[in-house]
Amino acid sequence: MNYYIITGTSKGIGKALAEALLQNDQNYVYGVSRNCSITHPRYHHQPLNLSDIVALENNLHKVFPVLKDAEKIVLVNNAGVVGEVAYMGSQLTHNFAYVFDVNVMAPAILTNTFLSAYHSEACPKIILNISSGAGKRPVDGWAAYCASKAALDMLSLTVQEEQKLLNSNVRVFSLSPGVVDTAMQEHLRQADATQFSEAKRFQELKNTGQLLSPEAIATKITKLLDHYEEFLEVVFRIDAIE
Ligand SMILES: NC(=O)c1ccc[n+]([C@@H]2O[C@H](COP(=O)([O-])OP(=O)(O)OC[C@H]3O[C@@H](n4cnc5c(N)ncnc54)[C@H](OP(=O)(O)O)[C@@H]3O)[C@@H](O)[C@H]2O)c1
Repeated sequence: MNYYIITGTSKGIGKALAEALLQNDQNYVYGVSRNCSITHPRYHHQPLNLSDIVALENNLHKVFPVLKDAEKIVLVNNAGVVGEVAYMGSQLTHNFAYVFDVNVMAPAILTNTFLSAYHSEACPKIILNISSGAGKRPVDGWAAYCASKAALDMLSLTVQEEQKLLNSNVRVFSLSPGVVDTAMQEHLRQADATQFSEAKRFQELKNTGQLLSPEAIATKITKLLDHYEEFLEVVFRIDAIE
């Protein structure tokens, strides 16, 4: 059996990925998000608000169940938020904590618990963090998001370095999915253009049909998870997956 623990399965990339994985009858998916929109005999949902770190810490035992006959165990830290799109100096103070809790603190806590909970499992284990190009270049209006994704990339690089030194069976990836047609993009298109100079460009990407579909991204991610040995980098873009 292959087990996939995926955050943010209620919509967007996470939902498309869970549904793609469930097509294989050897795969079991454990989803985590506030809402649930998947009903399937091999899907289990754990409702959790990942911006509530105390609730997350108190419910970790529900996120990482005892797994029988595991041949592969995968954690996908996919849930993410852009937060308020606004220049530094005019943001709501709590925006930083909110974005960092969902995009960095929750993935870090989940990674730490995943590694300890399944330490004695001899099968291959994969941690896939869904990052963003915004972690590699500054985007005005997105300071918290850019900084959080840069932190997620460095978290991934450090954990992989540790696992390499431990000579373990754990691989870590931090993948930028490209510009994908999800609720997150809808949120960005509604941003005030005085607080986000690329607002018009993002609207044009949608109007001219240049956004990638969550299903196409999910197909590529399943290829990565099926053939993870072929991918040597930790931080990379979706175009690296053919
Ligand atoms: N779409 C893009 O163009 C794009 C580009 C680069 C990177 N990404 C990254 O891709 C990942 C998925 O994004 P998406 O575009 O699929 O976004 P989306 O459609 O907005 O979906 C986000 C998912 O995250 C979950 N989530 C958000 N806040 C949460 C919270 N507080 N607690 C628990 N779950 C939470 C949502 O579930 P609930 O609302 O039910 O809780 C939802 O399932 C994110 O990490 C994002 O940064 C996206």
